[in-house]
Amino acid sequence: MEILASPEESSMSPEDIARLPLPPGSAGLPLLGETLAFMRNTGGFIEERRQRHGDVFRSHVLGEPIAFLLGPEANRWIFAGENKYLRNRWHVAGRKLLGDQSVAMLNGAAHLTRRRLLAPHFTYNAMRAFAPRIEAITHRHCEQWAARTEPFKAVDAVRALVFEVAISLILGDGKAVDAAYMNRLFRQWAGGLFSPVPLDIPFTPFGRAVAAGKEMHAYLESLVVAREKLTEQPPDVLGSLLSTRDEEGRPLPREAILQEIELQLYAGHDTTVTVTSNLLLLLAQHPEVLERCRQEQRGLEQGPLTLETLRAMPYLHQVIQEAMRFINPVGGSFRVTTQDVAYGGYRIPKGWQVALCIIGAHQGPPWTDSKRFDPERMGPERCEQKPPGAYVPFGGGPRVCLGQHFAMVEMAAIVSLLLRDYQWELVPGQDLSLKSFPIPIPRSGLLVRFSPLQHP
Ligand code: HEM
Repeated sequence: MEILASPEESSMSPEDIARLPLPPGSAGLPLLGETLAFMRNTGGFIEERRQRHGDVFRSHVLGEPIAFLLGPEANRWIFAGENKYLRNRWHVAGRKLLGDQSVAMLNGAAHLTRRRLLAPHFTYNAMRAFAPRIEAITHRHCEQWAARTEPFKAVDAVRALVFEVAISLILGDGKAVDAAYMNRLFRQWAGGLFSPVPLDIPFTPFGRAVAAGKEMHAYLESLVVAREKLTEQPPDVLGSLLSTRDEEGRPLPREAILQEIELQLYAGHDTTVTVTSNLLLLLAQHPEVLERCRQEQRGLEQGPLTLETLRAMPYLHQVIQEAMRFINPVGGSFRVTTQDVAYGGYRIPKGWQVALCIIGAHQGPPWTDSKRFDPERMGPERCEQKPPGAYVPFGGGPRVCLGQHFAMVEMAAIVSLLLRDYQWELVPGQDLSLKSFPIPIPRSGLLVRFSPLQHP
């Protein structure tokens, strides 16, 4: 049997691997393991153990033993291990709510086929058609925000905006969709995706997530059934899912289509809500960065947003990149070992979870003074010095984020429109500390006063 391990360990025999110790760490409490500490403050959990044990340690979270591997080399090892010594596997709650038929759940050849089907919708050039749509949706939402005389929770407002954008990508122009109704169901459903106790008991958070998921599924099914009747499918994600045929001419089962739409909504929504909301926070907290962003906007031709105008905003892109390093929208992801493997002098047994630890990579070396928000570090000079694997907000390898171009275009478009025409201030006295789960956003929901920009 070939044993694939970290480069220096790739020649080890199974017997040698069997002799290696497990990584240092603790299994925590029976059943719960260390899940609660992990979910309460993921960054702190990792940092504390990194200091105690180094860059490789074990724990027990979300129902299973797990090895945390930190740093750029570990990330590269994980990306290279897909379908060799690692497989993708979501934890129990995620599997129960998302099913097993979407791109994020598939492995091997089925995963590749689904990615090929979806990929044309997510290329950078495919975003050309989306910039005007994002602009129109953003203008409409911002006008409503500016008309509000009382402070409001920016996270909720951004969520409604971004949800509409995601629906327009996945389900077309969105006119047939009740976005507010879907958003409400979606939030309850997504709230259960990281449940430490995923038991379907009514009135528990997971029970409510299951119920909302069923309602959302039924609503989406009615939309899909209506679309199935069209003789020609519009060129959106759903259109591709409905038009594709396998080698025997069979369409995708409707259940697979529904699960794919739900996964896309989840993957493309909470992530961009997090970054966009946290950009509002960070820009308000760093007036010098805000002013430089506004200057950049003032130097550009005003007019409809295009990919070209967005490309002419290098400083804004630096700010977005640093925001994703400083507050990770996706802290990491999980894989499972398909055989005993050796990494960093330790044995990771077959069947263990392995954490792709994005948050750990972004907090540790080679980043210096990593607790400081500093967009300068993303400038071409300093960024070029980082080794592959050190900056991975969108993951890497065969599972690199499918929506990364879409996300960057969407976030840059929304924030540039805000910078051009609006101002916002944080309401004093609110709790701006970040919660870790399900997404890292201020506990207060980010209360802001929002108004049109007073041009001097
Ligand atoms: C700031 C925004 C975003 C961030 C930080 C982000 C991050 C990530 C990361 C880290 C992964 C890899 C997970 C893994 O390795 O297991 C991923 C996968 C994925 N993302 Fe994103 N994402 C973002 C936005 C989006 C958007 C807008 C979409 C689509 C509308 C999207 C769709 C996906 C899909 C479908 C996958 C699964 C790919 C696969 O398993 O092959 N993401 N994303």
